[in-house]
Amino acid sequence: MTLTKKNPKTFFIRTYGCQMNELDTELMVGTLRDRGMTRTTEEDDADLIILNTCSIRDLAERKAMGKIGQLGRSPKRKAIIGVTGCMANAKKETLFRKLPNVDFVLGTSNLHNLNEVLDEVVSGSKAIRTDSSFSFELDYTKAERDDKVKAYISIIRGCDKYCTYCVVPYTRGPEVSRSRDDIVEEVRQLADKGYKEFTLLGQNVNSYGKDKPEEKCLFHDLLYDLDKIDGVERVRFMTSHPVDITRELMEAIRDLKSACEFIHFPVQAGSPRILRKMHRIYTLEQYMEKVEMLRTIVPNASLGTDIIVGFPTETEEDFQMTYDVLKQIEYSVAFLFTFSPRKGTPAMRWRDDVSQEEKERRLQLLMELQSEIHTKQRTQMLGETVEVLVENLSPKSPTQVKGRTRCWKNVVFDGSQSDIGELINVKLHSFNHQTLYGERV
Ligand code: SAH
Ligand code: SF4
Ligand code: F3S
Repeated sequence: MTLTKKNPKTFFIRTYGCQMNELDTELMVGTLRDRGMTRTTEEDDADLIILNTCSIRDLAERKAMGKIGQLGRSPKRKAIIGVTGCMANAKKETLFRKLPNVDFVLGTSNLHNLNEVLDEVVSGSKAIRTDSSFSFELDYTKAERDDKVKAYISIIRGCDKYCTYCVVPYTRGPEVSRSRDDIVEEVRQLADKGYKEFTLLGQNVNSYGKDKPEEKCLFHDLLYDLDKIDGVERVRFMTSHPVDITRELMEAIRDLKSACEFIHFPVQAGSPRILRKMHRIYTLEQYMEKVEMLRTIVPNASLGTDIIVGFPTETEEDFQMTYDVLKQIEYSVAFLFTFSPRKGTPAMRWRDDVSQEEKERRLQLLMELQSEIHTKQRTQMLGETVEVLVENLSPKSPTQVKGRTRCWKNVVFDGSQSDIGELINVKLHSFNHQTLYGERV
């Protein structure tokens, strides 16, 4: 039996997954506020509950599925329940079968249909929109941003790379770049409002513009455009595919005041054989040459990476090569994962032959190594003066503030509300595992 749903007045959204989902949540919040609804931070008070989900690994999906199941058994079963994000595209209508309390399913390319599906649910039916390709009909000026200092800017959606382990090309569709004028205008408006730092978002930001050759604007050209805008202090970008990281991009980072000297340069694995099997389309030598080139052009650059251990057929020797890359490059940020087979991907068809226990052991070894590298890097930074953009008060002490360096390191020092949004030079004196501490100079 379906329960009649009333026109919702309050909503609760939970976001899983990456920054694209965070930005999509901000857009949905804007749309719902325009509809006259208010956001609550307590799901018990909400007439509408949206779970903006992620499918990247099994655990991410299980978390959201578990949450929806739990809502179905709670007094909240009268609320409208919507599933958005990558799991909506990955599971489509099967979600209605698995979780009968779900009222609507809205894919990553259908955010502009949010009002429509809500109306359908209120008029008594279940609703679903899961198109496979995206067009930039979204009005990003509607995004309700919680942060007042830094903003996410969508520049390209989707992915055409098809790494054999990854669901993203299926859940976010093919690459579609946003128009250069729209991006520049959005950044200009936000900079006028006092925003200082802009993170350009895309599954593969370096592909920007390749699908729109008539605009003659590649990723590095966009960086030059944004650098000219008054008030733009810092520009970051997430994430990059090593194949598309160009010399022109490295030179832009060297030459532009706003472009931060941090590049996420995900290697995924150190074994040439595993890289081929992952369809990463670069060899280990090509990757190393690019890192070398970056370090020559931008000597103070910090690098980030993503690594997967326990990919099908990964031997101890293959793993050792990954370990050696991590050790040699000394990334300042490393996101380390165990392989999780995903439905619909080529890697799903191969036997997941590294045991969970062995995957965990390899992960643990990489985590220990990375932690040693972090300690070494932080020790070397003591005594240095770094520029910190203050983001908020420190959650641990009201007389301290928290911000990040250009290279994305967390720094805490004495300060107050009036420092938020300011760029302050800080001399570093100590650290613990996540945070550097210092005092202003
Ligand atoms: N576009 C980004 C990646 C987005 S997914 C890029 O190419 O860098 C973030 C990370 O999750 C990936 O870089 C990869 O390391 C990891 N990942 C993706 N699919 C995975 C899977 N099936 N199992 C484990 N980790 C995975
Ligand atoms: Fe996934 Fe590869 Fe695309 Fe990144 S580049 S989103 S890992 S398919
Ligand atoms: Fe997850 Fe989709 Fe992002 S699968 S990591 S929410 S692109």
